[in-house]
Amino acid sequence: MPAQILAFLNFKGGVAKTTDTVNIGAVMALHPQIGGKRVLIVDLDPQCNSTLWLVGREVYRWVQERDQTVHEIFRRSLKKLKPDMASIIHPVDKSELSGGRLDLLPGSFSCLKLEEDPKMLDDNALGHLVLTKALETIKNQYDYILLDCPPSWSILTRNALRAAHHVLIPYTPDYLALEGILWMRQLHEEFSQRVGIGNIARLTGVIVNRVRNAANHQYVNAHQQAITELGQVIEQLHQKHGYRLHVFQPHIAETSAVAEAVNYQEHLLNKDMNHPVTRQFTALTQDIMMHLRILNPRMIEAA
Ligand SMILES: Nc1ncnc2c1ncn2[C@@H]1O[C@H](COP(=O)(O)OP(=O)(O)OP(=O)(O)O)[C@@H](O)[C@H]1O
Ligand SMILES: [Mg+2]
Repeated sequence: MPAQILAFLNFKGGVAKTTDTVNIGAVMALHPQIGGKRVLIVDLDPQCNSTLWLVGREVYRWVQERDQTVHEIFRRSLKKLKPDMASIIHPVDKSELSGGRLDLLPGSFSCLKLEEDPKMLDDNALGHLVLTKALETIKNQYDYILLDCPPSWSILTRNALRAAHHVLIPYTPDYLALEGILWMRQLHEEFSQRVGIGNIARLTGVIVNRVRNAANHQYVNAHQQAITELGQVIEQLHQKHGYRLHVFQPHIAETSAVAEAVNYQEHLLNKDMNHPVTRQFTALTQDIMMHLRILNPRMIEAA
């Protein structure tokens, strides 16, 4: 059974795309009960946040110098050469207990320059199939491939939309991020009209992050309001366009443990299995995996 490919995408910056990709990937691969999956995280963001988080600065620099990164895939494709995927995929973690493993295809700052290359121009359909073709050669080696996307409409996000089966939209409940979901829908529709609806990932669901629960927090009301408005927007989209975005459960609380885990270059599962936010990510991952199985019944056999 080939991997399910999930793009964590929102054109709004700072909505926890990287945080969700890394922690959900870690749960899928390494959790003693629900893990055991073979997971590849592809860092499509030239900021390289998931790369820096998962392998640290030293390895990050080492792979940049040798271009053992996602940029190599595009560079070789421009020369009509196939990438050697085995040489650029970096093992991150594995679990003897569950048998799962977490690998990384590192990101690259050089990917920013792809936008300037005429061969990658928007009207060149081959330019946005580079990732699809590269993942084709390894998708039987993984159960899930997670794409950590940049917060922009770029050649990299178009590649992600072509390569993925599902878009999961990380969202932080605030007024500005709500607009981000509407931009997503619009750009998704325009792109699918150009390339064909069957040739692009479906907008599957929303992950709600950084929810403030503290009773005395001054922004809690605005926060709750934004969650209510998210529900209203989803309902409007359903009525107008006929599809319903699933809101994955539970919502992830805002907590300093998340930032601490990044600073220690650990995912939450390694840092503290019993922390409430680690438990939330575990339950969230279960909900995602279950929802994908409902959408793709054949996955039941693979699970
Ligand atoms: N649940 C949380 N609690 C507290 N802080 C969080 C939580 N989730 C994410 N953050 C913090 O929010 C910031 C943005 O998160 P992250 O980098 O994952 O967002 P992003 O969408 O990937 O950003 P970008 O658009 O720049 O790629 C980071 O500092 C991260 O540590
Ligand atoms: Mg990010």
